[in-house]
Amino acid sequence: MVQQPLAWPLPARYARLHLPLGSAAKTTMATGVPTRRTQRKPSARRDAVTSSDASPVLSYAGKRDAAEILAGPAARISRVWAPPGLGSEPESNRLYFGDNLRILRHLLADDCVRGRVRLVYIDPPFATQSAFHSRKLAPAYEDTLAGAEFIEHLRARLLLLREILAQDGSLYVHLDEKMVFHIKVILDELFGEAAFRNCVTRKKCNPKNYTRRQYGNVADYILFYSKSSGPVWNRPVEPWTESRAREYQYVEPETGRRFMKVPVHAPGTRRGATGGRWRGKLPPPGKHWQFPPQKLDELDARGEIYWSPRGNPRRKVYLDQSPGVGVQDIWLDFKDAHNQNVRITGYPTEKNPGLLERIIEASSNPGDLVLDCYAGSGTTLSVADRLGRRWIGIDASREAIATSLRRFAHGTERMGDFVTPAAKRDQTTRPHGRTRESLFDSLEAVAVAEAPDSAREAITQFVLLAERGQKRELDECVRDWRQRAAAPRQGAAAPAVAELRRAERELSRRDAKLAAVIATIGPCRLAPKSGGFEDLLDAIVSQQLSNSAAATIRKRVRGLFDRGKPSPAGLARITDPALRAAGLSRRKVEYVRSLADHVRRGVLDRQALRRMSDADAIDALCGVKGIGRWTAEMYLIFSMHRLDVFPGGDQAIRASMMDLYRLTERGYEQRAVRIAEQWRPYRSVASWYLYRHLEHSRERVHHMERARRRFHVERGA
Ligand SMILES: C[S@@+](CC[C@H](N)C(=O)[O-])C[C@H]1O[C@@H](n2cnc3c(N)ncnc32)[C@H](O)[C@@H]1O
Repeated sequence: MVQQPLAWPLPARYARLHLPLGSAAKTTMATGVPTRRTQRKPSARRDAVTSSDASPVLSYAGKRDAAEILAGPAARISRVWAPPGLGSEPESNRLYFGDNLRILRHLLADDCVRGRVRLVYIDPPFATQSAFHSRKLAPAYEDTLAGAEFIEHLRARLLLLREILAQDGSLYVHLDEKMVFHIKVILDELFGEAAFRNCVTRKKCNPKNYTRRQYGNVADYILFYSKSSGPVWNRPVEPWTESRAREYQYVEPETGRRFMKVPVHAPGTRRGATGGRWRGKLPPPGKHWQFPPQKLDELDARGEIYWSPRGNPRRKVYLDQSPGVGVQDIWLDFKDAHNQNVRITGYPTEKNPGLLERIIEASSNPGDLVLDCYAGSGTTLSVADRLGRRWIGIDASREAIATSLRRFAHGTERMGDFVTPAAKRDQTTRPHGRTRESLFDSLEAVAVAEAPDSAREAITQFVLLAERGQKRELDECVRDWRQRAAAPRQGAAAPAVAELRRAERELSRRDAKLAAVIATIGPCRLAPKSGGFEDLLDAIVSQQLSNSAAATIRKRVRGLFDRGKPSPAGLARITDPALRAAGLSRRKVEYVRSLADHVRRGVLDRQALRRMSDADAIDALCGVKGIGRWTAEMYLIFSMHRLDVFPGGDQAIRASMMDLYRLTERGYEQRAVRIAEQWRPYRSVASWYLYRHLEHSRERVHHMERARRRFHVERGA
């Protein structure tokens, strides 16, 4: 076929785009949804979407024949490590060390993998011409390919990945503006234009103060393709925010349900029943009824048709029947490590696990096989594992494998742990002024920021493999990892994690609204803290302060104790003026002294508390001046890991429930308690999700400000 080069100047070493004559024309429907004349309706067989002659192709020097790429040498693989008693390799999760081209060819010959991978996510080098080091300055990988060489490198892998994908599989390719356009053309070539689903724009970082003559660059892109027209798809939704929910501006007087009115007709004329009269009315000119008359009658009988005063029907769409707003193709919530409290591995260019959660949940189901052949720090693998998917990871960097192993054993670390002492000092003394919404948030912030990543189960069920001849390179990192994996995980609570998973399942089963929140937020990360004097001290110190101020003062107070370890005896050695100078009010000094006194006299015995029922433990804690019911409930949830506590008085919970269950101030208490009854014995877990739900809501700041205003210091009961 004759190809017409487009007249745009690309350097010769770069690619040139050729658009064949007679390429498919794009038409646009009145609804604004583009369609292609060449696109067929999905058949029952869910045909593979393949490249056609109509697709543009990218031509460049060194572009090889597909057959040549597929027939190249495959890796020969050696097993480096496997857990005792693990079944045969085909069923296990696998982490490969070596070049992904040869390893993908090896996987192509594996019947358990070829055509069985439901989801591929890759985050290859971006052609940055840089060498990357970890935060601890270990060399990680080099990103030196450019232009045609880069394109051909990736094209070869994408070709193999296409073969490896299942028919209903999806592929996500993460790139930045430098190469995404070239690779879009390559993917259209390999998968067919109709297989393109989205180019997601992700906000990767906070705004930068650019001095160059151009706009700040905060975005990168994820190309999403499917192998066929029927990929696995679990539609992700954002929970409703109050402002979006306002679109449902009508309230049914009989039921109190909020709804919006939408047309009951659609564009286009029809000859059949949907084009005829219903209740004596024809659809408007050029339109047809959305449903046949019988279905419209049913809707009307259920009260789901609204009749205007002029007798025109509209369909009611209820807020409570909609789990949220479908996720669109601009993602703002998944910036990479952007503040000191974000947990990371320290590997360069590692991606936000939340991003992977969204992708994995949307495009695969539990038990499915997920593959990332530029695995880096193992973000895809660890999230896939947590979400119950099987996985295969490949990376050619020893540091990447070492990092993944560390992550599997011990999770991630707070980014602050990687920064210099000077930066740390700065962090602790610079208040950010964000408003703390409630004690709930404060304690949770402590749990997230300071506790080890212990609520995660260590990942042990996988096989580590290497290209033959490279096995020895991993000796040191495997030794290091085995020692770590053997060490008891600080604060680990494996049974509690299993219990959390059970709680998620039960709550999702019983409460549809909460199920939608759980689906959006992902697994509960309610991490047990150490418990005891330290936590209660923190709780009292944090009362009525913003998160950042609370963190600063907590640090200062801890700094007064020997080796930073608070104890009642230690507190006795610290003077009141020193506590005041650390930032405690006179009243809080009194409270912490009272706390120490109770603990010293054995009135707040931890063992005894552990044996008590929730109600008795709350009563015992409330006996301390400065601890009220609220603080006690927080302590039970976060420090004692009691799973069935409902802090209904918490303002954040209140705001969240009002939003999620459409509750009003009137009768809130009774209705909230009634709703919470169905969550037993997992009310703490449900509360954690409610808090997260609120955080997700765009109006969070507004809610939090209201909550803060209502929050009063709990007085000693
Ligand atoms: C951008 S990083 C991936 C980061 C990863 N998404 C994460 O969250 O940590 C790219 C990775 O691709 C790996 N890589 C580059 N070329 C490779 C090749 N030919 N085979 C296997 N891995 C490769 C690098 O070692 C690096 O770890």
